[in-house]
Formats: sequence, structure tokens, C-alpha cells
Amino acid sequence: MLNLQTQLGNFQFANPLMNASGVHCMDKTELDEMVASASGSLVTKSATVKPRPGNPEPRYADLTLGSINSMGLPNLGIDYYLDYVQQYQQEHPNQPIFMSIVGTTFEDNIAVARRIQESDFNGLAEINLSCPNVPGEPQTAYDPDQTVKILDELFTFFTKPLGVKLPPFFDLAQFDQMAAILNRYPLAFINTMNSLGNGLMIDPATDTVMIKPKGGFGGIGGAFAKPIALANVRAFRQRLRPEIAIIGTGGVQTGRDVYDLILCGANMVQVGTALHQQGTGIFDRLLSELSGVMQTKGYSSLAEFRGQLKTIE
Ligand code: DHB
Repeated sequence: MLNLQTQLGNFQFANPLMNASGVHCMDKTELDEMVASASGSLVTKSATVKPRPGNPEPRYADLTLGSINSMGLPNLGIDYYLDYVQQYQQEHPNQPIFMSIVGTTFEDNIAVARRIQESDFNGLAEINLSCPNVPGEPQTAYDPDQTVKILDELFTFFTKPLGVKLPPFFDLAQFDQMAAILNRYPLAFINTMNSLGNGLMIDPATDTVMIKPKGGFGGIGGAFAKPIALANVRAFRQRLRPEIAIIGTGGVQTGRDVYDLILCGANMVQVGTALHQQGTGIFDRLLSELSGVMQTKGYSSLAEFRGQLKTIE
């Protein structure tokens, strides 16, 4: 029998699959569909202190090889998601859930984290240091000093399991620098990676950008993201303390894509663009395809091949 179970710190999951935050997690209807799906867990939409309407539409477009979006952090506010997880925890005491939180300022990042710390949330929190879509606000994790400032302050009061959602990095010196920072903190996990920030696509029929916000610039997901995601999971697994788990996110369309992220070291794997395009039924297909790859390779558990990527001597 195949065992698809995975662990993240002290938390156990029936399988490694989840939604990527922002996809299928805005309100109770979508979250309930995630709960009813074959996924191993779920994460709520990145929540701010107050509800936000987000950017003007159109703000998402499907592309041949993925998607582009500049949603602008539409969300129902931290209180809505805290209410949801409170109910969820009562109904599913043994199935841990993730909450994503974000601030558009230093103060708001701290304020929203305090709301979680003071609540009875007993799952895993993910602070999003990589939202590319708020006009005028840079992605926090591309600024090492700002990242240190936020993490220093967070760990003065935050005692629940905490991870960080990172943007893609592209230079080995950046991996060295960011991993050295992250290794200083008692992080439960990192999630790599967010969308490829500030891409641009053009509709050839009209010579017009695909989305309205920010003059058409937006985060790129889907197949475009896969090699960058593999590199980011691999590079961080080679540099982070082993106690810091990794959620691999980017470009998952097939069970083989899930397998590849685990080969690079992922403990869990999130699905964004493909979940948005295909709906929660995708998790059944991904699990059966992943099982097929494992059977072909003779593996019966994820631990047997996690991080076992081969290089050429
Ligand atoms: C949004 C996009 C992101 O990539 C993210 O991490 C958070 C929010 C958004 O546009 O809503």
C-alpha cells in the first residue's frame, strides 16, 4: 500500500497537497469545497486587519502557459477567517489548517499577527512577505533589512507555529543571504514560492495588456513558474536548518510536478493556477498520478524520495 502522509513540524497530513493561498480560499463556500476535496490541507486567503476590495477588474487572466494576476489583496479581513478556522477546528480537530496573513505596512503585519496569537487558532500561520500586487508597495522579502525588522518583532510575541511565504529568488547569492536570515528564527516552515512578480502579457488582437491594475503588470503563475519553483525549493533545502520544513509551490499541473517538488525537498505542495482553472477535483487526479509515479519507481512513502534529486557527476 502507498502511504502519502507527510509531516510539517508536529503536524500530520494525509497527503502533501493544498491550495496555494489566493486560490479557492476567499470565503466559506470556497473553503468548504477545499475541505471536502481530496487535498491534505488548506490555507485561507492572505488576510489583512480590515477587509479589502482589491484592485479593479479585469485583474486575473488565463494564459497558454499559466496565468497573470494583480488581485490587490481582496479579502474579507482577519476576523472573518478567524471565525472560519474556529468552526473548522471544532469539526476537524485532527486536520490542521493554515492561515495566511499579510500587511501593507510594518505595523499592519504585526497587528494581524497579534490577532492570530491572541486567538484560539491552533494550526499553522503563514506570513506573506511576497505580495507583488499592491500599487506602491514593494515585496517585503526582496528587502533583507525589512525582512529582519518584521521577523525580529514577530518573534518577540508570536509563539504559534509560523512560516513565511517567499517570492522567487534568482541568484545564488540571494539564496545564501535569505537563508542566513531565515535560519536565525524558530520558523516552522517556508513556502517557496509566490508568483513571478510583475510580468506582462499582451493580447495580440488588440495590442492591450491582459489585466487592468498597475498598467498590466502582474504575478505570473502556472507552467511558467515550474523551473523557478524547483530551483527555489532545492536551493533553500540545501541551505536551511533541517527543522525548517518547506512547502513547494509553483507550476503544478500533474502528479509528476508534485513528485519533482518533493524530490527537491518539499514537505507539502501547493496548487495555484491549475486549481483555479480546473477546480478542486484536480486533487484526486494529482494524487492518483503521484501514486502512479511512486509505484513505477518502487517507492511506498514520500520520505523515500524527498530531497533525493540526483545531479550529474
Ligand atoms: C495577492 C497576490 C499575491 O501573490 C499574494 O501573495 C498576496 C495577494 C493579491 O494580489 O491579492
